[in-house]
Amino acid sequence: MSEIAKLLVGDNTYEFPLIQGTENETAIDIKALRGISEGVVTIDPGFKNTGSCQSAITFLDGEKGILRYRGYSIEELAEKADFLEVAYLLIFGDLPTEEQLSKFHNDILENTIVDDDIKKIIDAFPKNAHPMGVLSSLTSALTAFNPSSVNIDSEEDMYNAIVKIMGKFPVLVAWTMRKLKGLPLNYGSKKLGYVENVMKMMFEKPNEDYEINPIVKNALDKLLILHADHEQNCSTSTVRIVGSSHAGLFPSISAGISALWGPLHGGANQAVLEMLEAIKADGGDTKKYMGKAKDKEDPFRLMGFGHRVYKNFDPRAKIIKVAADEVLTDLGVQDPVLDIAKGLEQEALKDDYFVKRKLYPNVDFYSGIIYRAMGIPVEMFTVMFALGRLPGWIAQWREMRLRKEPIGRPRQIYTGANHRPFVNINER
Ligand code: ACO
Repeated sequence: MSEIAKLLVGDNTYEFPLIQGTENETAIDIKALRGISEGVVTIDPGFKNTGSCQSAITFLDGEKGILRYRGYSIEELAEKADFLEVAYLLIFGDLPTEEQLSKFHNDILENTIVDDDIKKIIDAFPKNAHPMGVLSSLTSALTAFNPSSVNIDSEEDMYNAIVKIMGKFPVLVAWTMRKLKGLPLNYGSKKLGYVENVMKMMFEKPNEDYEINPIVKNALDKLLILHADHEQNCSTSTVRIVGSSHAGLFPSISAGISALWGPLHGGANQAVLEMLEAIKADGGDTKKYMGKAKDKEDPFRLMGFGHRVYKNFDPRAKIIKVAADEVLTDLGVQDPVLDIAKGLEQEALKDDYFVKRKLYPNVDFYSGIIYRAMGIPVEMFTVMFALGRLPGWIAQWREMRLRKEPIGRPRQIYTGANHRPFVNINER
């Protein structure tokens, strides 16, 4: 292939270099366009075909259904690794040795206490506040209690901010749920692993010793790994763009949480379960809801279906579907919405509307069913997604800072009024 792209604008031809990735993806580097063409810019709302950066963290091929973190396939990582190993891999680039993992874990454990005044902030929220709003606010508030995390001037500052947020974030996640359930705020233990501590802090009752259920632990590890990164999605792009102004790690993550909240992104896992429950309450007629999803006059969409990038299948959804079956069987839970979900999937896979538009179940279609079987309330599902995505956001923020990327600042094409004289209020 030629090494350049040519663009004809009016009578002028401009040449641009091509950039090739390690998996042979090709991009046209149009950085110079505006300067050499008297102000012409490219436009691509929703960034459907625009690369915002070069990244060595996650590779995905939406046509082939491939997802890899740092070169390792998601299937292998979900089967063989634990969440903390994957977090290390994403953030630092390679699988850790036992020594590296143990140091990382110990450094995190040293940072698992949050300032007790955070409890006052939690107390000020109404009990029915959405946990994503609470989590985003608490993550931002962490900056005030950890001022040394604000200015990152060296790799050491960066490492310290990373182990701090890795340590404190699960506490905030657990406390957000405990507030929702009216349970006293607790802490983990230095004797437990990362995911075990998440479970202890979330599920421990004040009047009994908490015992780790290995089925729940394995399922949670897997779910967190599957959510850990997904290259330049809405929330990750948000983290990178906020961080590009050299805002610290914590406010960048807080912004990512807000972006994740929406039902078109991470909020879909809550929306899926609410949708499945509504279908069940309405008699379980999946055909009726398939019809609604296809009707352009009806705002209803099949939540948990479709993806901006995956146009074949979402490899995470395949793993989660199997896990949902296993976890529910192992825990002895019978959830009728699992059958409704499978029914919808089967119908969609043979329906022309879905096949033509390449709409397949995404990561969120089955995850909520597992979370609910574990005893996690539906409003917390997106918070669990955020917990899994934390290492990905950190890795992307770190990469953006180490590569010294410029501040994110897109252009626009103005379509408003031309210059007009001001009209005094009594003359309008
Ligand atoms: N149900 C019914 N129709 C759908 C659905 C759906 N879930 N998703 C897409 N379509 C249709 C659209 O109406 C459109 O049809 P048209 O071509 O006739 O106009 C076509 O498929 C393409 O859809 P777009 O919205 O243009 O695709 P886009 O890439 O912009 O959106 C998105 C992707 C937001 C994920 C979309 O599929 C959706 O809303 N899905 C439901 C929400 C969801 O599950 N989100 C989670 C995504 S995964 C994640 O963020 C972790």
